[in-house]
Amino acid sequence: CLWVRNLRLKRRLPGPFAWPVVGNAMQLGQMPHITFARLAKKYGNVYQIRLGCSDIVVLNGDKAIRQALIQHSAEFAGRPNFVSFQMISGGRSLTFTNYGKLWKVHRKIAQSSLRAFSSANSQTKKAFEQHITAEAMQLVQMFLQQSADGQYFDPSQEFPVAAANVLCALCFGRRYSHDDLEFRTLLKKVNKFGETIGAGSLVDVMPWLQSFPNPVRSVYENFKSLNEDFYSFVKNKVGQHRETFDPEVTRDMSDAIINVIEYGKYSGLSKEFVEATVTDLIGAGQDTVSTAMQWIVLLLVKYPDIQAKLHTVIDKVVGPDRLPTLEDRHSMPYLDAFIYETMRFTSFVPVTIPHSTTADVTIEGLHIPKDTVVFINQWSVNHDPLKWTDPQIFDPTRFLDENGALDKDLTNSVMIFSTGKRRCIGDQIAKVEVFLFTAILLHQCCFESDPCTVISLDCSYGLSLKPLQFYLRAKLRGKLLGLVS
Ligand code: HEM
Repeated sequence: CLWVRNLRLKRRLPGPFAWPVVGNAMQLGQMPHITFARLAKKYGNVYQIRLGCSDIVVLNGDKAIRQALIQHSAEFAGRPNFVSFQMISGGRSLTFTNYGKLWKVHRKIAQSSLRAFSSANSQTKKAFEQHITAEAMQLVQMFLQQSADGQYFDPSQEFPVAAANVLCALCFGRRYSHDDLEFRTLLKKVNKFGETIGAGSLVDVMPWLQSFPNPVRSVYENFKSLNEDFYSFVKNKVGQHRETFDPEVTRDMSDAIINVIEYGKYSGLSKEFVEATVTDLIGAGQDTVSTAMQWIVLLLVKYPDIQAKLHTVIDKVVGPDRLPTLEDRHSMPYLDAFIYETMRFTSFVPVTIPHSTTADVTIEGLHIPKDTVVFINQWSVNHDPLKWTDPQIFDPTRFLDENGALDKDLTNSVMIFSTGKRRCIGDQIAKVEVFLFTAILLHQCCFESDPCTVISLDCSYGLSLKPLQFYLRAKLRGKLLGLVS
């Protein structure tokens, strides 16, 4: 009867024994996504762990994750009310706000302004492409400079500047020099953002850790400070836009967002949501793209044969006298395959930003109550042996069919931008950026590591997985080209 049914539904989900006070925190290890996948083998793809005072449901594998995020999209579209989430973008973040009417309006505004400045028509597409090309060529110059006299350098310092500049060009109509120390320092600080936000971070689930000095408390304080610094940087720029705003002339994305939120039909969002939106977009688009590029150059030096094959493809399609453009993309499926394989193999956003349930929901026959924190293990989708042959092997050709064309079914199976209502809104922009950066860097340079060092794929865990420090050098291939008009 009903009582027995309720009892069965309310039964605790499967999962490991949770210790008092800490729960399973000590079992997560250095790479929680790998631990989550291992636990799935024992408890199934939907199970429960406890971190501090929070019960958390972990979803693994292609089937369970797509069932939850697509078939029950609204029920899984929430965000937990973690204290750290309220420190982001002045407390008005679109990314870290719970599901609801306000979030929907906010997301639509961000999505349509991104589209308006990147892909709305052929003119904006071209302008966007030129920003990326300009940044890629700055990178080429920086890399060649730093490789002078055969020296090896750490490339991780320059990618954040390049990725942030693409967003600054869209949002503020300006870029910053690689020599701008203030900008570099800000980005270096923001680089630590993901350490606190990544699934499995303990600051939000063990709030008592903040009350006495310990490493977690300092992570928390640094997190607060980096968010304040980044938000003030954006607020200052948006303030300048407000002072010179002319509704007849939309100079950039800040103007477009001011126009919708402050001058448009009632959006329900106060004017402070303008700086929050811009902070979110630059923040989300900067670290992810720059991490993708770090993995790409690392894999290029780790696998010189693959790099050589990419050089051959680019030389054949583009030739020595011009830079690659977006139009070349469909003629270079092997380059796209290399990028998809980098995303799959590294799964550098291994677990999405934590979700929460907005209502009671049943998945794979298991009941999950409203307001439960949910971790979505994207890594497990990309390494599912039922889906991928030898998932632990890096092999771009897995994405090519017998005619050498890109297998769209397989590329769509890679999960790095999540799916459902919270899917990344910058996925198209990110793919264009990563393609052009990679194509231009490879067209202009050959990358090599120090033969005396072994290239390791070890990384640090956070919202994104970042390779440990590594060194390489760049050599010019052919002539150094200027900007295409
Ligand atoms: C959210 C991945 C680039 C804007 C996300 C999420 C992931 C992700 C995994 C969380 C989805 C979830 O919680 O289920 C990536 C990757 C990128 C990238 C791998 C680059 C390779 C960008 C760019 C932008 C952007 C370039 C914008 C300029 C956002 C925003 C959200 C988001 C605003 C929050 C969406 C929401 O909560 O409704 N992204 N992203 N991302 N991303 Fe990206």
